Amino acid sequence: MEEYALQAVERLTTRPAEPYETITVTPITPLLGAEVSGLDLAEELTPRQEKELKHAFHTHHVLVFRDQDITPEEHKRFAGVFGALHPVALAPEGSDPDILEIKATAESRAVAGNGWHSDGTADAEPSLGSMLYLTTVPQDGGGDTLFANMHLAYELLSPAMRAFLDTLTALHDGARPWTTAGLTPPPEYDVPRTEHPVVVRHPETGRRLLFVNAPYTSHITQLSRPESDALLDMLHAHIARTPMLHLRVRWQPRTLVFWDNRSVQHHAIWDYFPHTRHGRRVAVQGTRLEG
Ligand code: SIN
Repeated sequence: MEEYALQAVERLTTRPAEPYETITVTPITPLLGAEVSGLDLAEELTPRQEKELKHAFHTHHVLVFRDQDITPEEHKRFAGVFGALHPVALAPEGSDPDILEIKATAESRAVAGNGWHSDGTADAEPSLGSMLYLTTVPQDGGGDTLFANMHLAYELLSPAMRAFLDTLTALHDGARPWTTAGLTPPPEYDVPRTEHPVVVRHPETGRRLLFVNAPYTSHITQLSRPESDALLDMLHAHIARTPMLHLRVRWQPRTLVFWDNRSVQHHAIWDYFPHTRHGRRVAVQGTRLEG
């Protein structure tokens, strides 16, 4: 590994003593993800628990809570600890606008999130994060979710590439998931389109991260189309093909996973057809992202 990459890994994994008194936080890899125990998410958090949980979230970016029995209202209350709820785009009529049902069955011919992405980055204020709670997992296993660390994705690029990316912005186009499939968005969808810096600073920690998103990023605005396509292809391949960036979460029934939608991308693996995987997701509103 290059010296700058070794230094980045050391920097991202060297932490001051962790301040946990009310929860237990067990890292899954040194670079991404932690299992959190000692909390019942059906109960309101104490101020101390909330503080410790936010610290764990900003340190590990993906938090996994096992054996939780929570109602939709308790799920929403827990999400509300981190900010206002981010409503579901194009929520089905009659459904709770804050809850996205995640469901794959023998009838499914596509599933949500089966590719590397972050959620809703065409929004001017992309979501802070999502909490996915699964009640049914595939009977023979599978259905894991992958996560990729976007701070490390940035830091593993050469200093010259990072300096170049720091100067660029890219358009995130909410119509793209439809247009790349040869479709048009539904007429009632007020399609969001936002230009974000290619490298943004995390709003809470100030740490830089790579902010391109294959399904939504149409082009880098300062470059010609062939240049932009080549650069985006390289960055998307870097995210998908660098195992050191990755975390694989194995679900059990009644697991809740909370991920930071800026610090990580995610990928739901659909390797369990025709079995059923079912749960619900609540997202938290984020803020505008600055370079
Ligand atoms: C998603 O939020 O993209 C779905 C994640 C999953 O089903 O694991």
